[in-house]
Amino acid sequence: MKDKVILITGASSGMGRATALMLAARGAQLALVSRTRARLDEAAGEVRRLGAQAVVVPTDITQRDQVSDMVSEVLATFDRIDALINCAGVGVLRPIEHLSEADIDHMLAVNTKGTILVSQAVGLEMVKRGGGKIITPVGTMGRYVMRGSVAYSASKWGAVGALKAMATEWQRNNVGITLLYLGGVNSPFWDHIEMRVQREKMLTVEDAARAIVYALEAAPNGVLNELTLQPESHQFI
Ligand SMILES: NC(=O)c1ccc[n+]([C@@H]2O[C@H](COP(=O)([O-])OP(=O)(O)OC[C@H]3O[C@@H](n4cnc5c(N)ncnc54)[C@H](OP(=O)(O)O)[C@@H]3O)[C@@H](O)[C@H]2O)c1
Repeated sequence: MKDKVILITGASSGMGRATALMLAARGAQLALVSRTRARLDEAAGEVRRLGAQAVVVPTDITQRDQVSDMVSEVLATFDRIDALINCAGVGVLRPIEHLSEADIDHMLAVNTKGTILVSQAVGLEMVKRGGGKIITPVGTMGRYVMRGSVAYSASKWGAVGALKAMATEWQRNNVGITLLYLGGVNSPFWDHIEMRVQREKMLTVEDAARAIVYALEAAPNGVLNELTLQPESHQFI
């Protein structure tokens, strides 16, 4: 990872932030992206304390102009992007009778459209510069479903479809696409979810970061397409 340029969305919190710190310890150069400058600056401070370079680019990934400006700013700083980690995402898990139109719009906008916009913009730059890797921890709700996940699953299955289609677009351009099906990860994601869950039994954000770093390092001459990592309580579901 030494001197690799890695763009992380959702870097202000949870597994995006944990991945930034793990990659900083390996000498990567990082572009940290989410909407909240103060939390990105705090993460960037930690990254720099570990001896790595970081640029902070506050961006709402649902807005194409902001995504385009963000990618230009990262390229102006580092000149290339070797890998994109798509950690930005939102979750509302609630029974179908309480699912609002705003919930549906919000999840589709961030998890599906936002992931497409960032992957499209960064992937096209990777094609120009000879390739790269796009790693997305879509989560197990991109492969399975559960009660309360109607719009969340739709948003994640949509992202999975889009990213698999991108892999076909770029299969001759050395752009590798990885989908990580992670089970529950104990992060601030769960702070506002009303469903009863046992957070202490979930994966940690460091477990998630290790899976992301593994996907980056596993196959220098190939691509790890898919990986499922579950807490022990949820094996094969
Ligand atoms: N936690 C789990 O159990 C779990 C399991 C599998 C997969 N996942 C998925 O993994 C990803 C990361 O989850 P997490 O657990 O790390 O959640 P988290 O701690 O809540 O972090 C979510 C991140 O997304 C950013 N974000 C939200 N809306 C955004 C927008 N419009 N534009 C740019 N950034 C935005 C947030 O930053 P700002 O608020 O600063 O914008 C934050 O940095 C999500 O896609 C989630 O669906 C989560």
